[in-house]
Amino acid sequence: MLLIRKMSRRSKANSYLLYVLMLVGCLSFSSGLLAQIDERQMMLLANNCLQCHASAETGAPLIGNAEKWRSISAKGEDKILENVVHGIGGMPPLGYCSACSEDDFRVLIRFIAGLPDQKGH
Ligand code: HEC
Repeated sequence: MLLIRKMSRRSKANSYLLYVLMLVGCLSFSSGLLAQIDERQMMLLANNCLQCHASAETGAPLIGNAEKWRSISAKGEDKILENVVHGIGGMPPLGYCSACSEDDFRVLIRFIAGLPDQKGH
């Protein structure tokens, strides 16, 4: 009980992190996607992407919305990467993640979109 009360007083950023950790818990049972995302990238995701991609009011395609991501992924990963780097519609250039490398973006995009990694998992 005390723990729950403590958590609810935490900052918004921390609740995103909590969300990610819960998500990780669920996904790790259901897919092999997690093998490719490391802890640092998980933090980049939590600090930069989830404020929109886990929040319906922003109009961003939500993480876990398979139908939405299916039509986006039809563009191909390179095109999607380009859109993330330059921005598209309400998506800001780099998704605010100035610390993300190209590799980070590829991993984050695959993770958010639920795409298979290169080994085809
Ligand atoms: C300020 C809100 C915001 C942030 C922060 C943000 N996104 Fe987005 N993102 C959006 C919106 C809105 C769209 C839909 C854009 C459209 O198609 O009009 C989008 C679309 C995308 C797409 C689909 C691009 C395409 O080709 O259709 C990807 C992939 C994506 N975001 C990844 C990320 C990643 C990775 C991060 C973090 C590094 C991130 N976003 C951060 C709002 C955001």
